Amino acid sequence: MAGRIPQTFIDDLLARTDIVGVIESRVPLKRAGRNYTACCPFHKEKTPSFTVSPDKQFYYCFGCGATGNAIGFLMEYERRPFPEAVEELAGRAGLTVPHDGGDDDERTSRNRALYDALATADRHFQEQLRKHALRLRAVDYLRSRGLTGEIARRFGVGYAPPGWDLLLSAQGGDDAKNRLLIDAGLVVAQDGKTYDRFRDRIMFPIRDTRGRVIGFGGRVIGDGKPKYLNSPETPVFHKGRELYGLYEAKQANKTLERLLVVEGYMDVIALAQQGITCAVATLGTACTSDHVDLLFRSAGEVVFCFDGDAAGRRAAWRALEATLPKMQDGRVARVLFLPPQHDPDSLVRAEGVTAFNALLANADSIDDVLFRELAARVDLSRTDGRARLASLAKPYLAQVPGEVLRALMTQKLADIAQLDPKLLAAQPATRAQALGFDSDDMPPDHDVPPPDDRYEPAGEPAWEPDPDSIEPRDGSERRGFRGKRFDKGPRQVGGSRAPRQAPLGVAGHVIRHLLMAPQLAREIDLLPELRGLDLPHVALLCEVVDVLHDTEYPSVAALFGRLQGSDNFDAFAALAGREFLVQHGDDEAGLEALRRDIRGGLDQLTLAWYDAELARELRRPGGPDPARYRELLQEHSRLKAAIHRSL
Ligand code: UTP
Ligand code: MN
Repeated sequence: MAGRIPQTFIDDLLARTDIVGVIESRVPLKRAGRNYTACCPFHKEKTPSFTVSPDKQFYYCFGCGATGNAIGFLMEYERRPFPEAVEELAGRAGLTVPHDGGDDDERTSRNRALYDALATADRHFQEQLRKHALRLRAVDYLRSRGLTGEIARRFGVGYAPPGWDLLLSAQGGDDAKNRLLIDAGLVVAQDGKTYDRFRDRIMFPIRDTRGRVIGFGGRVIGDGKPKYLNSPETPVFHKGRELYGLYEAKQANKTLERLLVVEGYMDVIALAQQGITCAVATLGTACTSDHVDLLFRSAGEVVFCFDGDAAGRRAAWRALEATLPKMQDGRVARVLFLPPQHDPDSLVRAEGVTAFNALLANADSIDDVLFRELAARVDLSRTDGRARLASLAKPYLAQVPGEVLRALMTQKLADIAQLDPKLLAAQPATRAQALGFDSDDMPPDHDVPPPDDRYEPAGEPAWEPDPDSIEPRDGSERRGFRGKRFDKGPRQVGGSRAPRQAPLGVAGHVIRHLLMAPQLAREIDLLPELRGLDLPHVALLCEVVDVLHDTEYPSVAALFGRLQGSDNFDAFAALAGREFLVQHGDDEAGLEALRRDIRGGLDQLTLAWYDAELARELRRPGGPDPARYRELLQEHSRLKAAIHRSL
């Protein structure tokens, strides 16, 4: 019988699985802002309450409370046991499920072997470009594309000669070696046969930000299909997270102020040859939110270059959707629509660098693109058309985290719609819109989660300084947050009312913040004494922190997996559902605010522990131990003062 599936594998699998794809192939999903909705497959309903979050990788039904990660969905939907659900997802991700004993060490050494195999293949391809009998075929082609030897070397361009087993015979041999080449994506195994994936192609090594080769793109020489053959997803290569040319751009520039995002390998290289060394390309995929994170981690300004045709406009829209939620103040995102018939490669060659730079200087800002695309859907000469534009735009504005940018965009929208900007500012996007539902998708009788403070300004002091705010489980809990009202019923979007949710307590709030940025759990240590504290959600908080400490991929999806079967699971699911659509700032400022709030919350809990200890000392038969009592009291006032100072 197969042994246990290692937890690290499950975490890894969840990190690579897209829950939207998993659910979409079974339940048709409709896009609603950042999320997806459908009629819930787990209970009967006419209007969609079932929502899937691609950011947080879980689903939640506001009607019946069904919730879980991708594995949980498969288990519930197809009534399959856990190992089968894991197998299914692993199959999708091209992974083999390990059993027993497969631990971190094993995986790291496996990855090291993959990197080595890829590096060896990289040297092999470059050597073939210099030495192979047919090398001129490749060299002439590269020359015809205008590449110099110098630039080809800088990008490590190589040649995979024709033949089915060149790489196999050079690097393969026994089963283990062949297996490694297959796992690295260099060799294909099909119908019992193995053969080289890349044959008679120009090879472009794809490097990660550390410069390690993680995959290849291979271009056919001349015409032929497919024009580009890329490495498949492997344990070390994920197209949705990598950018071609980023390593080279960082090498070429001490500091990168701006990054250009283009579509193709040849665009990156041609621009570099003309001295524009800051271009990167997505690898034949749409721009993902991971890409945007990577871009802004490397530079403050990002310019997307797209064709001006319909496909280019669609691609631009997707890039815009991925970018808006990352627009902190100080970041700049623009879009350059290229003249017809040109890609950056052909443009820079035909018109020169100066012309290209001139176009670049005139690239549209991201809000221009947003409003232009939305305006194209309405009739601006009509009053109702302008009103419609405002309502179409608001949910997008609501996603922009940068306060200043959002204000400026609101102003611009007011100008375009010829509205008093005060009117726009006074009426925030409806709850539904702010949550990411298009108003058209919102059924009138839809149950919505209760309102909360999810859009609170990040800098606001979050914790009630008074320790009295913490009350024991049996008493009815007071507000844990200053000025936040959890006792208020849900705002009505219409129709029936969502069930009232239990109060969160301080621990609930800490969990809530951890759900927004699970990686922060790494930075906190729970005082062992806290574990016994009898307050709402404290036990769950301890479990959450333990799980997040323990996993390589701290995420909401990982929590769903690990807390399954825990006494606290229901409480967790309810909390996660409540936080379902929260957009958090994952830039440094946003994280810093969360970090502060989490620390503040833990201080509050610690203070509560001291309160309880003091009370216990006082109740002690024979009276309190004076030394211990004094010590506790001192710590208590020290902590209390610290909390007050931090507010
Ligand atoms: P293009 O077809 O625009 O390629 O595809 P290109 O870079 O201009 O190619 P050249 O100039 O003819 O050499 C853009 C990108 O889409 C991916 C590749 O990443 C390519 O660089 N692509 C394209 C594929 O993955 N497979 C294909 O068959 C075609
Ligand atoms: Mn091209």
